[in-house]
Amino acid sequence: PTLRLVTMVGSLRQGSYSAAIARTLAALAPDDVVIEPLASIGDLPHYNADTQADGFPAAVLAMAEAIQGADGVIIVTPEYNYSFPGVLKNALDWLSRVSPSPFARKPVALQSSSPGLLGGSRAQYQLRQVFIFLDAMMLNKPEVMIGQVATKVAGDPAMLTDAPTRDFVAGQIATFAEFIRRHG
Ligand code: FNR
Repeated sequence: PTLRLVTMVGSLRQGSYSAAIARTLAALAPDDVVIEPLASIGDLPHYNADTQADGFPAAVLAMAEAIQGADGVIIVTPEYNYSFPGVLKNALDWLSRVSPSPFARKPVALQSSSPGLLGGSRAQYQLRQVFIFLDAMMLNKPEVMIGQVATKVAGDPAMLTDAPTRDFVAGQIATFAEFIRRHG
């Protein structure tokens, strides 16, 4: 059967490299894997337990439902100050309060990028720590950390165009699909 994956982007920027990578994934997926974007994490308010006590915002519940209904999640994020952006943590904090937890036992794969050389690797390892508590089923390898991303994305709308990087990312998606079929 066809697998349905969703992408979550850790940047709100219009010209985001992370968004460009996420937008490219559907074209790199095997025929029996569909990849669709989640709503922007910018739609979620700042986490506040008082807001939660008044009832979860509709955008949080909609995102939780979209994740629950998906076979797996691919998170594409930049690195901010050697970690992942606060807006992404905000989304994960909201989603972690929804019951049943949308990430519990959910297959999750990570991708990061940076205009620098290290491709956001430090952000990814901090994200992995958060997902231990969320009890997601994390794909370990291959690790997609795209350095010098500004030279690997082009067009309008921007897409990942660098051929070796596209092949590598396609390999991760295929491995993720296999991982989900075996363990998901
Ligand atoms: C950055 N950037 C950055 N890059 C990096 O490799 N390591 C880092 O620690 C940081 N820190 C950082 C902090 C803040 C607040 C900003 C705004 C940026 C640069 C970052 O990788 C670059 O802006 C990316 O283009 C952001 O990703 P998107 O928006 O293109 O997806």
